[in-house]
Amino acid sequence: MGDTFGFGIIGAGVISSYHAKAIEAHPDGKIVAVADVVKANAEKFAAEYNCEIYTDWREMLKRDDIQAINVCSPSGLHAEHTIGAAKAGKHIIVEKSMAINVKDATSMIRVARDNKVRLAVIFQKRTEEAPNKVKKAIADGMFGKMVFGDASIKYWRNQAYYDSADWRGTWAQEGGGSTMTQGIHGIDLLLYMMGDVEKIYATMDTVAHVDIEVEDIALALLKFKNGAYGRLQTATACNPGSGNVFEINGTLGTAILVEDTITSWAFSDSKETVAKETIVGVKGEAGTAASSYKTFPVEGHIMQMANFIDAVRDGKNLICSGEDGRKSLVLIEALYTSARRGEEVFLDEILEGNEI
Ligand SMILES: NC(=O)c1ccc[n+]([C@@H]2O[C@H](COP(=O)([O-])OP(=O)(O)OC[C@H]3O[C@@H](n4cnc5c(N)ncnc54)[C@H](O)[C@@H]3O)[C@@H](O)[C@H]2O)c1
Repeated sequence: MGDTFGFGIIGAGVISSYHAKAIEAHPDGKIVAVADVVKANAEKFAAEYNCEIYTDWREMLKRDDIQAINVCSPSGLHAEHTIGAAKAGKHIIVEKSMAINVKDATSMIRVARDNKVRLAVIFQKRTEEAPNKVKKAIADGMFGKMVFGDASIKYWRNQAYYDSADWRGTWAQEGGGSTMTQGIHGIDLLLYMMGDVEKIYATMDTVAHVDIEVEDIALALLKFKNGAYGRLQTATACNPGSGNVFEINGTLGTAILVEDTITSWAFSDSKETVAKETIVGVKGEAGTAASSYKTFPVEGHIMQMANFIDAVRDGKNLICSGEDGRKSLVLIEALYTSARRGEEVFLDEILEGNEI
């Protein structure tokens, strides 16, 4: 055990309890305070996790016993909250989506760097064994020349979900729909395994909901920088949904991942298939958020919180830094731009003026 590491949480909604459990799981972690504009939400959280409450997050930042801020507010407020915390000298662990556009994400990274604080982005699926195994196999050349990297992220969210908070389903505060909020986890993993995308051609629509502004389906064709192509689909219109499914193909290997399980793992020496195995992911349980967003496993948050504390203390690499967390946003902004224009978009265009 080391010195106490104090956290202040902004936003006491659904995801705040995952952060609270992850802090409590660390021997040095202490939940010092919570800030929420809805006092009742802060009170409910404080009653469960025994901490101070604030209705103005800026007041909470004045405390010396808080070293880090958990940004658990609606996605459209992440940039304001992260930048405010960084300027107050606090380290930050921000929920996905780190921001709702690339410009804001870039400002967050710059301000954190200028104020010498660490910025981590929650993408808890990066901690699972299966995508890490595929990522390593690609890096080791086991797949040969990469041919396809496909991701299908088909979820269901009913109208009650979109009605449960004002920010949901809006371009201004959620920044998008099935791609920005649900698909982003799988998009992050696809890029984590396959590397960066060069260009995208996309379309999107709202097919199953009447009272939302944002898309509930999107389809895109990708060209990766490694020469491979990909198909990306996101949805909150598929009931009950098929969760996250990835198909990775090269000239020497094929892997299929369903949630955190590799269901197919086959490699060839070009004459015959030489290896086959099935592995399971974290704790051997395939947690899915396909039809419920309140019941996925907490292990990923626990691992990212422990890594974050280590990174602040020892300068260790983050599982997902601000720069890493921005990659999926660049792709998503390119997807939306392509769908609106009806033409192919190069990701370099999205990055123009957003150098880090
Ligand atoms: N990692 C994951 O798998 C995962 C899962 C769910 C949500 N999330 C992300 O977490 C974030 C929050 O989602 P949620 O489902 O918990 O939303 P939520 O609506 O349940 O909670 C948001 C909370 O923030 C509060 N809030 C709003 N404005 C505020 C302000 N100015 N200052 C302080 N508090 C404010 C609200 O009152 C509410 O209590 C989103 O960015 C979402 O994408 C991530």
